Amino acid sequence: MQTRDSDFLVIGSGLAGLTAALRLSAHGKVLLACKRKADEGNTRYAQGGISCVMNSDDSLDEHVSDTLRAGGCLSEESAVRTIVGGGPAQIAELEKLGIQFAHRADKPEEYDLGREGGHSHRRVLHAGDVTGKALIEGLLAHAQADPNITLAENWLAIDVVTTGWIGLPGKNRCVGGYFLDKTSGEILAVRSPATVLATGGLGKVYLYTSNPDVATGDGVAMAWRAGLPVRDMELIQFHPTCLYHPDAKSFLISEAVRGEGGRLIDRRGHEFVYDFDERGALAPRDITARAIDSVMKKQGDPFVYLDISHRDADYLQTRFPTLYSTCLNFGFDMALAPVPVVPAAHYSCGGVIADVDGRTEMPGLYAIGEVASTGLHGANRLASNSLLEACVCAHRCAEAIAQAWKNNPVADIAIPRWEYGDAVSSEEAVLVEHNWNEVRSVMWDYVGIMRSDRRLQRARRRIHTIREEIRHYYKEYLVTSDLIELRNLAAVAELIVRSAQHRKESRGLHYNEDWPEMSATAKHTIIHDKPGGPLQS
Ligand code: FAD
Ligand code: SIN
Repeated sequence: MQTRDSDFLVIGSGLAGLTAALRLSAHGKVLLACKRKADEGNTRYAQGGISCVMNSDDSLDEHVSDTLRAGGCLSEESAVRTIVGGGPAQIAELEKLGIQFAHRADKPEEYDLGREGGHSHRRVLHAGDVTGKALIEGLLAHAQADPNITLAENWLAIDVVTTGWIGLPGKNRCVGGYFLDKTSGEILAVRSPATVLATGGLGKVYLYTSNPDVATGDGVAMAWRAGLPVRDMELIQFHPTCLYHPDAKSFLISEAVRGEGGRLIDRRGHEFVYDFDERGALAPRDITARAIDSVMKKQGDPFVYLDISHRDADYLQTRFPTLYSTCLNFGFDMALAPVPVVPAAHYSCGGVIADVDGRTEMPGLYAIGEVASTGLHGANRLASNSLLEACVCAHRCAEAIAQAWKNNPVADIAIPRWEYGDAVSSEEAVLVEHNWNEVRSVMWDYVGIMRSDRRLQRARRRIHTIREEIRHYYKEYLVTSDLIELRNLAAVAELIVRSAQHRKESRGLHYNEDWPEMSATAKHTIIHDKPGGPLQS
C-alpha cells in the first residue's frame, strides 16, 4: 500500500473544499481529493445564490434575526453572527477570483438581489439561476492552476486514520485518511497533519432528493466512526419545489421563483400556504414543505403547482434561463401554465460538530460546509445561507490550520497497511444495489416530512438489519465504491433515525405526529458513540 504525504489533506472539492484548498496553498502543499469529477457535488447545482447583506436598507442584525427565527431557537447566536458578519468580505474575495454576481439592468452599480423564504429583505446574490456552476467553475480553474494544489479525482475517502485506532498513546488525533483510487482499484493512505472534511451532504439517503449521487453522507459517517460527536441529524430540510416528472430526478425549481412572485396552488387554484402561514409561499421551508405534504395527502394528489405564469417568457428566460428551458424540455412552459412540484430531501442541517473555524474535537481533523454542524442553521436552514457558511467557514478554517498544523506532527507515524484479510471479489453487486434502494425507500416512507413513533421504530428495525448485512459484505468482500457508499448511507440513515427518536417534540424540520408540540427548551440531539475505525461497518 502506497502512503503519500501532504501538508494539508482536503476531502471534497465543493465550495467549502475549494475555498479551503485555495487559502491553504499559501502555507504548503495541499492534496485535494474528490470521489468523482472535481466539479460534481451539491455546490454545482445551487441555483438561488448566496445570502449576504449588500444594501444599505438591510443590516447584519436583520440577517441574523431572520436566521435565528427560521432556526426554531436552535441556532447558536454567536455562530450566526460570525458567519453572517463574515459574508461581505467573502463576497469580495470571490469577486477578486473572478466570480461575477448579477447586477440590476436599470441600476448597474447595484447588485440584482434575489428574495427567498424567511428573508425580510432581498439579499441573495446570484449568477442567474446557475450560481453554483459559476462558483465551482471559477474556483476550480484557480485550483487547477495552483502549483501547490494536487487535485486527485476519483479518490474515494474510506475513513480517516487516528492515532487511537493505530494504538498510539496520548490524545487521539487525526493523521490522515485511507482512499480507494477508483481508477486503479488500489487502496492508499495519505498522511497529513491537517485533514479537512468538506464532503458535503447526504440527500441520497432519501429516495427523492435534489442532491446529486455523490451526496451519500460519507463525511458524517467517517467522523462518527472515528468517535466524533454528530449533532441534530434528524433535521433534514426538504425543498418544497422539485419538478414532478418521472424523468426529472427531482430537478429543483429555485425558491427565487417564489421570490419573484411564484405562487403555490392546489389543483383548484387555491393558494393553500396562506392557510398555514401569513407569509404564504415565502414562509421558511419547513412550513411550506409541510403545507405541501399535508395538502397532497388530504387531497390525494401526487403534486401541487407552482405558478409564475403572470410573468412573460422574456422575463423568465432572462432571470431563470436554465429553469425555464429545463421545464420546457419536460413539456412545461412556465410562462403559460403552472408547473407540477413536490418536496424532496435537500439539505442536512445537522452534521459533525465543528466550530466556525472548522475545528472538531479531534486535533488534526476539521469539518466545513454542509458536513459540519456549526450552529448556524438550528432546526431549519434559512435559504441561501449554506453557500455563505461554506465560504466563510472554509476561509476561517484555513486560517486556523495555518496557525495550528505544526502542532500535530505526523512524520514518525506509520499508517498501517490496509487489511484486505480474506476478502474476495464480490459477485453480489445485486445485493448492494437492493440494500441501497431499500435504505432510501425506508427513509422516504418512514423518516420523511411527517414522522411518528411507529414509523421511526419500523425504520430503525429495517436499517439495523441492513447494517448487519453490510457488516458481513464488508468483512467478506473486497471493498468497492458502491459498498463503501452503501455502508455510509446506512450508517447515516441510522444516525438520522436514532436522532429523530430522541427528539420528543416537533421543532423546525422535525415533525412527529406523536409529539406535535415544541418543548419550552431547545436542545440539540447529540450522538457520541465509541470510536470504531476503518474496519468497522
Ligand atoms: P459539496 O458541494 O456537496 O461538495 C462535496 C464534495 O465532497 C464533492 O467534491 C464530493 O465529490 C466530495 N466527496 C464526498 N464524499 C467523498 C468521499 N468519501 N471521498 C472523496 N470525496 C468526497 N445553498 C445555498 O446557499 N444557495 C443555493 O442557491 C442553493 N441551491 C441548492 C440547489 C441544489 C439543487 C442543491 C442540491 C443544494 C443547494 N444549496 C444551496 C445547498 C448548497 O449547494 C450546499 O449545501 C453546498 O454547496 C455544500 O457545499 P460543500 O462544499 O459543503 O459540499
Ligand atoms: C433554491 O434556489 O431554492 C435553493 C436555495 C437553497 O437551498 O438555499
